[in-house]
Amino acid sequence: MDILHAIATNNLYFFILAKPFFISLPFPTLITTHESLNKKIMENLLSPVFPILLTMCIFSQISPSYALTHDYIRPPARGLVLSQHKRSESDPQQVHISLAGKDHIRVSWITDDKKVPSIVEYGKVPGEYNAMATGEHTSYHYFFYSSSKIHHVKIGPLETDTIYYYRCGGYGPEFSFKTPPPSFPIEFAVVGDLGQTEWTNSTLAHVRSKDYDVFLLPGDLSYADTQQPLWDSFGRLVEPYASSRPWMVTEGNHEIETFPIIQPHGFKAYNARWRMPYEESGSSSNLYYSFDVSGTHIIMLGSYTDFDADSAQYKWLQADLSKIDRKKTPWVIALLHAPWYNTNSAHQGEGESMRKSMEDLLYKARVDIIFAGHVHAYERFTRIYDNKADPCGPMYITIGDGGNREGLALK
Ligand SMILES: [Fe+2]
Repeated sequence: MDILHAIATNNLYFFILAKPFFISLPFPTLITTHESLNKKIMENLLSPVFPILLTMCIFSQISPSYALTHDYIRPPARGLVLSQHKRSESDPQQVHISLAGKDHIRVSWITDDKKVPSIVEYGKVPGEYNAMATGEHTSYHYFFYSSSKIHHVKIGPLETDTIYYYRCGGYGPEFSFKTPPPSFPIEFAVVGDLGQTEWTNSTLAHVRSKDYDVFLLPGDLSYADTQQPLWDSFGRLVEPYASSRPWMVTEGNHEIETFPIIQPHGFKAYNARWRMPYEESGSSSNLYYSFDVSGTHIIMLGSYTDFDADSAQYKWLQADLSKIDRKKTPWVIALLHAPWYNTNSAHQGEGESMRKSMEDLLYKARVDIIFAGHVHAYERFTRIYDNKADPCGPMYITIGDGGNREGLALK
């Protein structure tokens, strides 16, 4: 189902897991803007093929927009994949790493045994750990669920473009990761709305086939949706990938998990398990942060926390953008969950308030690309600002088709 779509521009590579929506249309070119979409639809309306397709629509009672993709039938959602815990209580599970400030990596993992220390031993030779760091731990309760011990340990300084071997808590298997390169070229894998289904496995198999440097996820990770053991299952599913390359995530609506009166604040599991470098980037919230990697400044915005002009996120973004040095990071990329531009009927208009509040800031800072998830389809826009094609605006890419249980957006 997934195809690996690569955008390579000036030594910056994005491997984007996308359904073949845009190549399987009868249109000869990519759909880019609303205008070009309308133009292409009109061309098809006038073509001799369209009356035949329209007849098929009427008789099969499917929508014309679906019929225009007649040569590609979007496959249905696939079943949940549960990943069992097969290690001992003191062994690390759900190991994942993230960039944590200059030359540092944060190692996060979970143990059932609460006595396991929050330490990481590491080195450049397998089994030989000549460095060690101590970190912190947390846990949380959600209704009748009590999490195991969640460890976060920051290690470094680390050399760039180097393989490190590491062990968590002094027990269990050895893991390894590669640090990003010091400069271009760099490769990102970008996947939104991942979930934990057989399609998720398909997406991750594509990820595995590339020697990428950093994984970017613009929200909707586990689709646990208050079923906390599904967060554990998701952590185990992605561990082979997230323990070997930095996984940088921001929150989607499926991370909120509020419940009236009992769980009023939301993001309890997400913030405890997927701690990102917000303090390192001057943010006061794990829900929005930024980082530099190999000549790229990446801004992870929060679609589900305040974003209006007097909000903490807005003020942080203003300050963050003002500090960018394009000589050091000529590329500036932002990720957020609910897309600001979207021609699907699914989630139509949901990112509009945030766009109205923050688009101007990103436009004036000349952000290059903005990735979003949420809509379970692939869509790419030309450079655009305030709903008009603009050569100085960012390119918008929706990439919310990672494989979750809800399936693809169909209209
Ligand atoms: Fe979403």
